Amino acid sequence: MKPMNRKCASFTDSVIRRMTRIAYACGAINLAQGFPDFDPPKAITDRLKEVAAEGPHQYPITMGAPNFRRALAAKTRRFMGRDIDPETEVVVTIGSTEAMVDTIFALTNPGDKIAMFSPYFENYSAQTIFADCEPVFIPLVPPDFHFDANVLEDAFKKGLKAIIICNPSNPSGRVFTYEELKLIADLCIKYDVYAITDEVYEHIIYDGHVHTYMANLPGMWERTVTCNSLSKTYSITGWRLGYAIAPKEIMDKIKQFHDFNAVGAPSPLMEAAIVGLTMPDSYYQEFTAHYAHMKKIFTEGMRSIGIPFTDPEGTYFVLADIAPYLKKGQTDVEFCEEMARKVGVAVVPGTSFFKEDVNNIVRMHFAKKDETLYAALDRLADIKNKML
Ligand SMILES: Cc1ncc(COP(=O)(O)O)c(C=O)c1O
Repeated sequence: MKPMNRKCASFTDSVIRRMTRIAYACGAINLAQGFPDFDPPKAITDRLKEVAAEGPHQYPITMGAPNFRRALAAKTRRFMGRDIDPETEVVVTIGSTEAMVDTIFALTNPGDKIAMFSPYFENYSAQTIFADCEPVFIPLVPPDFHFDANVLEDAFKKGLKAIIICNPSNPSGRVFTYEELKLIADLCIKYDVYAITDEVYEHIIYDGHVHTYMANLPGMWERTVTCNSLSKTYSITGWRLGYAIAPKEIMDKIKQFHDFNAVGAPSPLMEAAIVGLTMPDSYYQEFTAHYAHMKKIFTEGMRSIGIPFTDPEGTYFVLADIAPYLKKGQTDVEFCEEMARKVGVAVVPGTSFFKEDVNNIVRMHFAKKDETLYAALDRLADIKNKML
């Protein structure tokens, strides 16, 4: 038999999603893959029941149902403060994941370099390799995960085609400030580089941090693709609804890839999710308050157990230091598999996110019901006995 795609040797399956399968197999509480165990807003699921009876059930318009795109444009006006043309400047995708893949293919040619901060969301490097591009990693320096402006510019000097900016950032929990984004934006303009943003956590922000939209920075609309999702904002990660926003010239190319990759996003789910996109301000206030509440339970619990972790500015992730519980010679992947079985809590090994050589970090998330968080904390309190 002839050899298959050689790129497959450059990445494995997603370790985040593998940990979910392990969690199911051994009955562990899943703090690995980021999704809630509480219900989506009732208004959305009630609407889904109606849509089940009324339809639509057939192929959608490829770029996304027109009423859904109009609702997205209205939400963009409301939060980003920008008028986008629902006909030409947005495409609805199979999650933000597909939006990113289509965008990378649309913007690059084989051999191009794509920068991303490390730690990074593991999809980005695999997607970059799909497109025969080369990832360039820029370190975010712990403990506060800032970047060094000179190191950043050195990456731009390597001749980038694009930079991926995850903001709020998974897994570091950083919410980049206006000044930080302006610095990146100025370099994008100086070196003629596209910005691909991943803003799926735009509404999960804590303690007075503010989400800045890269596309709104001076000179950036023309060169920015904003990727986003309904997964996190409406607690519907299984619905697989995402979107990209970009100026028409870029969007035309993204749509070409979307057309043949996906045909379209699920039509009944778009119809039902319009209820989410048109939720009143109180929804977002309660949503943010709920995340602050879950964060408080989890971080207070972690503090009292004595496991050091990063306190996120946004997102629902913490990076925890498991050095005291690692056995000599044990990899973080082995540790996480053992931890799921013995402690009963599934987490993600840090090597899935860090380009740097780290073996003592795991990512945990707290998008869970109070009782799930308390149960996970109870189990974590025993980590020392179970793991050493
Ligand atoms: C930073 C980031 N981007 C994208 C995604 C996936 O988004 P979607 O469900 O819209 O594909 C995730 C999911 O965990 C994520 O953390």
